[in-house]
Amino acid sequence: MYMKLYDYYRTALAGQTLPAAFIDLDNLALNLEQLRCRAAGLPIRLVTKSVRSLSIIRLALAAGSFMRGLLCYSPVEAAWLSSEGFDDIVVAYPSVEPADIRAVAVQLRSGRSITLMVDSADQVDLLDALAGKEKVVFPVAIDLDMSSNFPGLYFGVHRSPVREAATAVALAAEISRRSGVRLDGLMGYEGQIAGLMDAEPGRRLKNRIICHLKHRSIREVTQRRQRVVEALAEAGYRLRFVNGGGTGSFESTSGDTSVTELAAGSGLYAPTLFDHYATFKALPAAGFALPITRLPMPGIATCSGGGYIASGPAGKDRLPQPWLPSGCSLIEHEAAGEVQTPVRYPPDVGFRTGDLVLFRHAKSGELCERFNHLLLIKDGRVVDRVTTYRGDGKNFF
Ligand SMILES: Cc1ncc(COP(=O)(O)O)c(C=O)c1O
Repeated sequence: MYMKLYDYYRTALAGQTLPAAFIDLDNLALNLEQLRCRAAGLPIRLVTKSVRSLSIIRLALAAGSFMRGLLCYSPVEAAWLSSEGFDDIVVAYPSVEPADIRAVAVQLRSGRSITLMVDSADQVDLLDALAGKEKVVFPVAIDLDMSSNFPGLYFGVHRSPVREAATAVALAAEISRRSGVRLDGLMGYEGQIAGLMDAEPGRRLKNRIICHLKHRSIREVTQRRQRVVEALAEAGYRLRFVNGGGTGSFESTSGDTSVTELAAGSGLYAPTLFDHYATFKALPAAGFALPITRLPMPGIATCSGGGYIASGPAGKDRLPQPWLPSGCSLIEHEAAGEVQTPVRYPPDVGFRTGDLVLFRHAKSGELCERFNHLLLIKDGRVVDRVTTYRGDGKNFF
C-alpha cells in the first residue's frame, strides 16, 4: 500500500525539478470536509500562518460558507491579504510597530474589515494615538489567556495577561474610553488542547497524563471563557465574534456555547505534529520531495536539501520526517542537514541515484518558508504550480 502511494507521488512528480514542495489537493479537500464535520455547525476562521500561500487560502475559503474569514499573524500580512481582496480579517497577535499598523489603517480607509488584537491598555494607547493621525477607528479584539496554571505545572502558553472577567471588563472599559479604537471581538485560544498530541504510539503513559491534563484544563478554561463573555455582555459590550480553538480542539471548543467561531489552519496540510490525536485523524496533504544525489553505502541514500526544522522546543519531533517509501529514517547524528540529508532505507527499496524520497514537515505553514512554489497534485498528476508567501517575496517575521 505504501509502495503504491510512493509510486503514485513519484509518477505525479516525474519531470519536476527537485527539491519541490507539493500539496495533495484530494487530501486537502478531504481534510477541509473533516474540519467542517468536526466544527459541528460553527464557522471556521482560517489560520493563515499554517497555510502561507495566497492560492491555497483562496481555495480553502472557496470550500464553502463554513470557512469564514482569516486569522492572520501580522498586521502587514493582513493589509497585504486585504489588498488582494480578502475581507473579515483578524490579526491574532498584538503589534507595536507603527508602520505595520499604518498599513492596516490604509485598508480600513478603503472599507475593509481588519481587527487587531490587544491584551493591555498600553497597546490600546498606541493604537489610539495612531488612529488619530490616520483618521481611522481600529476595531480590536481582546486576547483571553486560556492556560491552566495547575499547582506545580503551567499547562498552556504565555501570551495574554487577561485571565479573568474583571480584567477583560476593565480592558473593555479602557477601549471604550478612547475614540480611536472600538471593541469588536474576543479570542481565547487554548493551545495546550489544540496543539498538543495525546495519542502518540508507544507513549501510553504520556498520552494518559496529557489526556488527563487536557480534560481538567478544558473544564476550567471553557468556564473561564464563558464567564468572560457573560461579564462583557452584562457590562454592555457587544462582541461581533468569540473565536476559540485550533485544529486539535474542535470537539471541546465547539462545545463551549460562548464561542461563535473556531480557528484552524494546520488541519489542512496535516503535518507530523498533528498525526496523533485521540479525536481525529487528518490525511497528509503537504510534503516535499528530495532527489537522491549520492549513495554513500548500501542502505543509505543521501538527498539534497531537507534541513527544514520546525520552530518550538528543539527536539526530534521538530525534524522533517522521511515519509515515502515507508521504512526510511533519518540518521541520528546528521538528521536533516543544511545542504544534504542522508536517509537509511530498507533493503527491499533499492534506491538509485536520481530517485526521490518524500518527506513531511513537522509544522504546517513553515514548509512554505523554504519553497517559492507548491506543486498541486490532483488525481495523480501535477495540475498547477502556485506561489507560497515566500514566492511572492513576502516574509512577515
Ligand atoms: C491564536 C491562534 N488560534 C488558533 C491557532 C490554531 O492554528 P492551527 O489550526 O494551525 O493549529 C493558533 C496556532 O498557533 C493560534 O495561535
